[in-house]
Amino acid sequence: MVTRRSVLGGVLGASGAGLLTAGGLVPLLQARTAGGDLAPVAGSRAAAAAPAFSVRMPRLPQLAPVSTLGGQDTYLVTAKEVDREIIPGVRTRVLTYDGHFPGPVLRARSGRKVVIRHRNSLTMPLSCHLHGGSVTPENDGGPMDTFAPGKERTYTYPNQQPGASLWFHDHSHHMESEHVYRGLSGSYLLSDATERALPLPDGEYEVPVALRDARFDGAGQLVYEMDDMGRTTILANGRPSPYFEVAARKYRFRLLNSSNMRFFQLRLADGGQIVQIGTDGGLLERPFVTDTVGLSPAERADVIIDFSRYPVGTKIVLENTLGPGTPDQVGNVLRFDVVRKAADPSRIPDVLRRLPSLPKATVQRSIVLSMDEDGRQDPRAYLDGKVWDAGRVDQSVAFGSSEIWTVTNANKIIPHNFHLHLVQFRVLERNGTPVGPAEAGLKDTVRLFPGESVKLHATFDSYRGTYVYHCHLLDHSAMGMMANFRVR
Ligand code: C2O
Ligand code: CU
Repeated sequence: MVTRRSVLGGVLGASGAGLLTAGGLVPLLQARTAGGDLAPVAGSRAAAAAPAFSVRMPRLPQLAPVSTLGGQDTYLVTAKEVDREIIPGVRTRVLTYDGHFPGPVLRARSGRKVVIRHRNSLTMPLSCHLHGGSVTPENDGGPMDTFAPGKERTYTYPNQQPGASLWFHDHSHHMESEHVYRGLSGSYLLSDATERALPLPDGEYEVPVALRDARFDGAGQLVYEMDDMGRTTILANGRPSPYFEVAARKYRFRLLNSSNMRFFQLRLADGGQIVQIGTDGGLLERPFVTDTVGLSPAERADVIIDFSRYPVGTKIVLENTLGPGTPDQVGNVLRFDVVRKAADPSRIPDVLRRLPSLPKATVQRSIVLSMDEDGRQDPRAYLDGKVWDAGRVDQSVAFGSSEIWTVTNANKIIPHNFHLHLVQFRVLERNGTPVGPAEAGLKDTVRLFPGESVKLHATFDSYRGTYVYHCHLLDHSAMGMMANFRVR
């Protein structure tokens, strides 16, 4: 079912019209009246048959180590194809880690090593990348560093980094896009002692939520076409627009956007307060109150919602206000049903942690993301005007140095984002202005709407070797929007 031909067919066959509707980042309210090119996209027919909020959102399964001996936690994970219920009553073929769709949660602790033995029971080569992790190049799951069907590969994660909301996903070049789309991703929640000492909601009140989109055919099977703007079914923990029963107290939600290309802009339907406490690289210094959370593909947000302000019986929708797709299709992410009262000893402290100070940067680089958007038949995606070449070193970085990278999206219509392997960086500026609180923490992925540029500060003091940086709209990186940096 997953073939290289379907990927190449996607590259070569991506229609200009499809690309232009990448402008589907138009807010939904405008999309309602824009007509024509933003009209509902065919597809997702089977899913459309199920009304929103008719299934319960499951909790993600947690992986258990096969061994905790030798000062490390060892896991065994098998990549395999299975059928799972996504749309109610329909079996959908998916690619999974250990049979879970979406992938499981692995909980790790800073300072304690994790070793994962991956078994490839699929028919394609795989590699597994720990997104946001500080790891050696041999353990980074690079695009060409794959392991074949029937083989095993062991990844070692030292976890010598502060707590962070990491995740893992396939990264086999040209195939990562389809593999991740079909299910090969999971969460990796790394906690440290500072975080564990905080009185934040925990246990059943800390809930990882993986959000993504998908397109289904009439038989309820996932449709993968490269650069597809018709992925208009929204899944939360693997179910379409589900509901989730909560107690009238605070919850901590660990949000991950595991979509290939969709940007979410989330809000509670009543405009109610959301307290954001963390981002990709872990906790912020201070919580802040907001009414909206933006997540480009691969970004994470750690948020607290206090349901004690709602009477029992209240149903409150978490909405998405960005296209592509109509509000009916993509506006309903998840509904919280407040079903009971509960005691709440949790608290959100004013100070969550101290972020490291920024060493003086000694090198400046400029990076440009672009993609053909003129409607041509065979669009390509570029980093600094070039398609990725595994054997080319695009940036050479001195070990231990701090650098400022100015990254620009040169497109007029198509959004991108930017992900650096190996490091957690700081976003200093967006379009020449200091960033807001949601981007003020440690980040490994940053959004870039058309024409935007960001200034990043990164320190390369952990490992030497060659790593990639790329747009995390995986359909774009699969088309070549990726490059290599070498720390030497
Ligand atoms: Cu999330 Cu290079 O990856
Ligand atoms: Cu992109």
